[in-house]
Amino acid sequence: MYFSTVILGALITTAAHANPRAQESLHPAHKRASANEPIDVIELPLPPVTHNETEGGCTRQVNPHGTGCIGANSSNLLSGNFLPDGNHVTASLVFTGAPASPDPRSNYSGLNLIIVRTNGTLFPNGDAWKCITCGVPADQQYGFTSSMDYQYPQAFTDGTRVLAGAYIIDCGTAQLASPQCTPDKVHIYPIRWNTSPTGSGAGGSIRELRKHPDDVHITFNAISYSGSTVSQYAYFARLQFNPAPTNGTPLTPRYDLVNVTGLYSPESTSIFSFEGKNMTINEQAITVGEARGLNGLGNQVQYLGSPAESCNIDIFDVDLKSGEVVRMTYGPEYVDPFDVSPDGQWAVIMDTTTSDRMMFLSGMRGVPPLVDPLLTAAVSSIRNNGGRRFFVPWLYDRNVPYVNSDRSYEGQQVNAAGDGSPGSVNDPFWNGGADPRWSLDGTKIAYFQLLTVAPDCGGSNPLPCPVSTAPGGRTARLMLATLTSRKPLKTTKVKPVSDTIPWG
Ligand SMILES: *[C@@H]1O[C@H](CO)[C@@H](O)[C@H](O)[C@H]1NC(C)=O
Ligand SMILES: *[C@@H]1O[C@H](CO)[C@@H](O)[C@H](O)[C@H]1NC(C)=O
Ligand SMILES: *[C@@H]1O[C@H](CO)[C@@H](O)[C@H](O)[C@H]1NC(C)=O
Ligand SMILES: *[C@@H]1O[C@H](CO)[C@@H](O)[C@H](O)[C@H]1NC(C)=O
Ligand SMILES: *[C@@H]1O[C@H](CO)[C@@H](O)[C@H](O)[C@H]1NC(C)=O
Ligand SMILES: *[C@@H]1O[C@H](CO)[C@@H](O)[C@H](O)[C@H]1NC(C)=O
Repeated sequence: MYFSTVILGALITTAAHANPRAQESLHPAHKRASANEPIDVIELPLPPVTHNETEGGCTRQVNPHGTGCIGANSSNLLSGNFLPDGNHVTASLVFTGAPASPDPRSNYSGLNLIIVRTNGTLFPNGDAWKCITCGVPADQQYGFTSSMDYQYPQAFTDGTRVLAGAYIIDCGTAQLASPQCTPDKVHIYPIRWNTSPTGSGAGGSIRELRKHPDDVHITFNAISYSGSTVSQYAYFARLQFNPAPTNGTPLTPRYDLVNVTGLYSPESTSIFSFEGKNMTINEQAITVGEARGLNGLGNQVQYLGSPAESCNIDIFDVDLKSGEVVRMTYGPEYVDPFDVSPDGQWAVIMDTTTSDRMMFLSGMRGVPPLVDPLLTAAVSSIRNNGGRRFFVPWLYDRNVPYVNSDRSYEGQQVNAAGDGSPGSVNDPFWNGGADPRWSLDGTKIAYFQLLTVAPDCGGSNPLPCPVSTAPGGRTARLMLATLTSRKPLKTTKVKPVSDTIPWG
């Protein structure tokens, strides 16, 4: 299916032809290359669905425990990572239909952070989930805004805090999953990025935050406007708790971003260089379009950058210290959300391989990315069809491309076991969202999926809408994949990395 010829490649010299890491990165534990391993996939429980989303519509008939309801299509479910015990996954969602105060059920309303049991057992109240932020006193929700989001929830390795959106949700000394973590102990702190020379004002708007495994650094992205040009830069920074700020807003306890470094290297940003009639493509160019994650070992940032092959969007690693760039994914399809395993050897990626959707653009391999500076935005925009995404989780052995330059390697579909019927784990109408996540012991992966809904099906759209078979007819689901043949990794605490990025 793939064209392996390098048609225009003869005209191109690659500056980083021999990858010095090729030998040393072969991890003995992962000698198997592309043989499939057993993966067990199940759906995890979520709060029950109410079809009456008006005030009081979440009745005791729907949820006898009085711990909230979600809407079939309005849950805004986003799953996150595992707590360090591996027995819980973080998620954010919107509760609906709560009765008014003073009914204690009134707390189960709007956007909240929950944790969901992954091992089939229940919390003491009989639920499989626990809401962390429901009923947090208003004066402990600092910098609360109605437009806030809890995207990409990421628990810290201490089990007491979660980075979600541009907030840190903190239960003090109590483990989030323990009965000691009650709403009165929870504080929700905003994260502020100072962009003013005087330290005043609200600071810069930040997005797509990802936590470093050392628990003290993050990456984030920020959009900047200059005339009619919109661009995005990525940054690396240290989180510093500021219990009593004297400058800048909000003047509440908050986390400040300090030692902020742009993930941008003026010397090595251009992928093309010219000499006479010769053009060279610099495979070591650092072209961070959007920082999207940090390696489990904490030594690399992963990003979506300028394609290495025409119209083929891939993930690249850049070493925080040396600035060495390594292409992480090679498949011709579009890849975007992903997570690298705690031992740095594996990735779980969400990509469009199962649909062959991008093949007409990127199926021919080895074509240098000559037109891409103009086209990448258009190419990446067709990966989905409105709300209908084509992302499927794939398990990706990071050593394969280094070891044998096997550019046809695409990994193993995580949810391949299934009969493809409505509601099965590989039902093609359930589309993967961001981000899939590894457990710290490397044996489990959590991800979530959304069912295709109108207007991306139904009505004048020739694709009929699939009927949800999920509980309550909900159109979001939380999935757990267990890599049953793997031995749990020893969890090792990642030491805080340097605040300094020499090339940034
Ligand atoms: C929705 O729930 C509210 C509160 O219980 C109730 O007053 C209303 O009649 C319900 N609406 C429907 C359509 O059942
Ligand atoms: C399931 O997870 C809970 C919470 O961490 C733990 O207490 C319990 O022992 C686990 N049970 C099994 C069977 O793994
Ligand atoms: C929930 O809401 C009620 C009434 O609004 C309040 O009295 C109670 O303290 C809140 N917190 C919890 C944890 O139920
Ligand atoms: C990091 O920021 C802190 C606080 O602003 C400052 O004291 C420290 O010197 C900075 N470290 C580096 C390496 O710049
Ligand atoms: C262009 O590349 C050719 C072949 O590698 C080489 O012989 C020639 O000197 C190069 N020209 C320039 C201007 O670098
Ligand atoms: C929710 O989604 C289901 C299934 O796609 C659909 O039948 C229903 O009309 C939707 N409801 C709303 C309120 O959008």
